[in-house]
Amino acid sequence: MNTPLHSPRPAADRKSIFGTVEPYAGDPIFGLLDSFRADPRQDKINLAIGVYTDGDGRIPALESVRSAREKIGWGPRPYLPMEGHAAYRSAVQRIVFGEQNAAVAENRVATIQTIGATGAIGIAADFLAKHCPDRTVYVSDPTWDNHHGLFQRAGFETARYPYWDANTRSIPFDRLLDTLDNAAPGAIVVIQPACHNPTGLDLSRAQEAELTALMIRKRHIAVFDVAYQGFGSGLAEDVAFVRRYADKAACLVAYSFSKNFALYGERCGALNVVCHDVGEARRVLGQLVLAVRRSYSAPPTTGALLVAEVLNDPLLFRQWSEELTRMRQRLDTMCAALAQAIGAVSKDMDVGFLGQQRGMFRYPALSNAQIEAMRARDGVYLADGGRLCLAALMPEHVETVARSLVAEAEGALDRRNV
Ligand code: LMR
Repeated sequence: MNTPLHSPRPAADRKSIFGTVEPYAGDPIFGLLDSFRADPRQDKINLAIGVYTDGDGRIPALESVRSAREKIGWGPRPYLPMEGHAAYRSAVQRIVFGEQNAAVAENRVATIQTIGATGAIGIAADFLAKHCPDRTVYVSDPTWDNHHGLFQRAGFETARYPYWDANTRSIPFDRLLDTLDNAAPGAIVVIQPACHNPTGLDLSRAQEAELTALMIRKRHIAVFDVAYQGFGSGLAEDVAFVRRYADKAACLVAYSFSKNFALYGERCGALNVVCHDVGEARRVLGQLVLAVRRSYSAPPTTGALLVAEVLNDPLLFRQWSEELTRMRQRLDTMCAALAQAIGAVSKDMDVGFLGQQRGMFRYPALSNAQIEAMRARDGVYLADGGRLCLAALMPEHVETVARSLVAEAEGALDRRNV
């Protein structure tokens, strides 16, 4: 019997090819942004996503970046090299590692331009999966959710090291050390050196030194995630841990200009790998370039030209660092205003955490029920764990946010006293 060329499939096969594709539950941060946009209330307040806005709720157009835009012009943009714009890459090395860094001077740092720090961590994960496989990746608990996802996508299992003690609102440093000491040697450890997302808590210099010694003794691999340089204590201060670490050991450093250049949509990031010697750095750079080529071929142009223009021009650089200082000062002002507004409506709520935490976020550490109550009752949107983006707080919203936080804090006290 002749089989017809296009015989109908048996019933079981007639389902769509993609019929078994599972739905995506949504991203915890971008999903909230969608909910915020869909919320019809006029007086809703978005403190969920990590974006800096000025007092009017707008992402600032920095004057330094505006001047750079005039300088780079509007001509056609050819492909950048796979590793990115050369002047951008060298500027990244200077801003991260400093002018006098030995590893940079000895050409031991392999640096590529990436699509934001997310792209940098993604390429780092691919690189490590290929060249340092079969290890566990440790991320802080809590952390930015995508740390888990990016390493899991590359095939790693992720585990957590303790970073938050809800009772003391501090880093449980002994438990952090124990966890990493008990990890199998050669683990990959993701470290946020300043302005920790979400807790705003950073290690002291003594703690950094202890952690560094442990990392080296255990031959763990550090992956630093630097997304907020300049928002904590200052440009040099916020990467001091990275610089001290790179003086002692090889490491990877993912970097983002999204926040400190207010260039969110341009996706300006970088990945640096500090190597043992120049030959190793050359080979590592080759493998990073290969990973880029296989993933998206070459990075985008405009943002890199803007950042390079600002960082390589002494006048624009000074102007940018002053603009960044003003952004940081606005965080301090809003922090004080929120503490004062809370104090005006409650004598019981402890606001000490606001001053102790640094960077764009404050972490009142709320339950899911409390976060949902704030959203439903007051239109105040906070991210997971109650992460509050201080950098998006406008003066006109301070009182509402204070009242909303106090309502939850006092509700929790009342429930405890029942
Ligand atoms: C955040 O943490 O809110 C930002 O870094 C945006 C993002 O990519 O999640």
